[in-house]
Amino acid sequence: VSSISTIDSLPSAEGDLIEATELRTLRASNWAARSARGVEILDYDHGFQVLEHPGLEKGPSFQRRLDQLGMTGEARRFFDMGVPNTEGEYRKKLRGPLGALFRPTQVAKLRDGVRSVARAAVDELDASGPVDLLEKLCWTIPSRTYCDLVSIPHSKADEVASIAKVAVGPLLTGDTAQLQSASDAVLEAVDLVREHLAAKRANPGDDFTSVMIRQQEKGLLTEDELFAEAFSILMASVDNTTHQMASVFGVLLTDRSLWQAFLNDRELRAPLIEEVIRLYPRFGTVFRYARNETVVDDLTVPADTWVFVSTRAGQRDPAVYEQPDEFRIDRPVKRPPMFGAGPYNCLGQNLARMEIEEAMLAVADRYPEIALAEVWTRSHTNAVTETSNLVVTLA
Ligand code: HEM
Repeated sequence: VSSISTIDSLPSAEGDLIEATELRTLRASNWAARSARGVEILDYDHGFQVLEHPGLEKGPSFQRRLDQLGMTGEARRFFDMGVPNTEGEYRKKLRGPLGALFRPTQVAKLRDGVRSVARAAVDELDASGPVDLLEKLCWTIPSRTYCDLVSIPHSKADEVASIAKVAVGPLLTGDTAQLQSASDAVLEAVDLVREHLAAKRANPGDDFTSVMIRQQEKGLLTEDELFAEAFSILMASVDNTTHQMASVFGVLLTDRSLWQAFLNDRELRAPLIEEVIRLYPRFGTVFRYARNETVVDDLTVPADTWVFVSTRAGQRDPAVYEQPDEFRIDRPVKRPPMFGAGPYNCLGQNLARMEIEEAMLAVADRYPEIALAEVWTRSHTNAVTETSNLVVTLA
């Protein structure tokens, strides 16, 4: 007798699956639910089983969105060469060199650069009135850090930020009205990268860009794949880091005792960041695709089904986190599903954490009196959370 059940036996999920209360009720009845778009995974352990499942894919999720948008031509060609969009042997070929770039020893070398980016961004803030911290700090640090990775001058950072906004937006929202501007932004990014990688090639060093270029020269990547790699790092890094950083400042300044705790003990920065990621994740879901029928624990997922790992549910799973809805800075370290897992996991997660840490330290050193001038506001979709307003006074 088989104990394997089908998805027909799952509770069905109504609503947007965004609210913690909605997710908590659903998780109490089962670790998975059925929704109009596929299967929703609601607890921590099954979340990782799905993310690490060798039979589940990632790539076609983006392909499907690009198909729906109708993106074709050169812009599409560069998207299709980026590691997040590939599967199988071709993915392995691309992910290997990319993974090597983000090895911990490589990322550790970026610390001084990220620190000076953060310090400079804070020095440029105008403390005489209210400051839009989202625009002036949370966009600035990730876009300049990206510029440093691929040796683009900081004067181009605003262009990088706007490329990220224009090219990623329609992918998340499926807004076809923005298709042309999204396609243009992809090609603008490729041109920008092409120009500056060429300059670096003439004068290589020991930096991130030079490592990328040497990989290409060794034959690990074609020249177009090198540009596609640089473009996918832009797409994967800038806006996600921006919005996670904004949530960190939003949370710590909304409950200012948390900011004060950090001022009293700077070593608390890492647990504070982890707890914000847990309770206020940038990504609400990380998804996989069952191309063929796939068994996850005792559940058969039929072929051609999307599986959504809810970070908003799994990161508040009471089986893993005591009093899961409470903000606590003394929790045992647990990896969050928000950065994904397995062969597709986020390669830049430690760089993202480093950028947020350095932003906190730079602000704390220069403007410890920072306070919200207006209520911190956000918008949520099932996929992501974005900060819409983060205005502060500095002194
Ligand atoms: C807080 C900021 C960030 C968040 C929330 C985030 C989140 C994610 C998630 C959810 C994935 C997919 C994981 C999966 O499906 O298992 C991913 C993939 C990726 N991320 Fe991040 N990320 C962030 C920052 C960065 C940064 C700073 C970089 C690089 C500079 C980066 C580079 C990548 C790359 C290259 C991939 C694709 C990996 C692959 O498809 O094999 N990310 N990220």
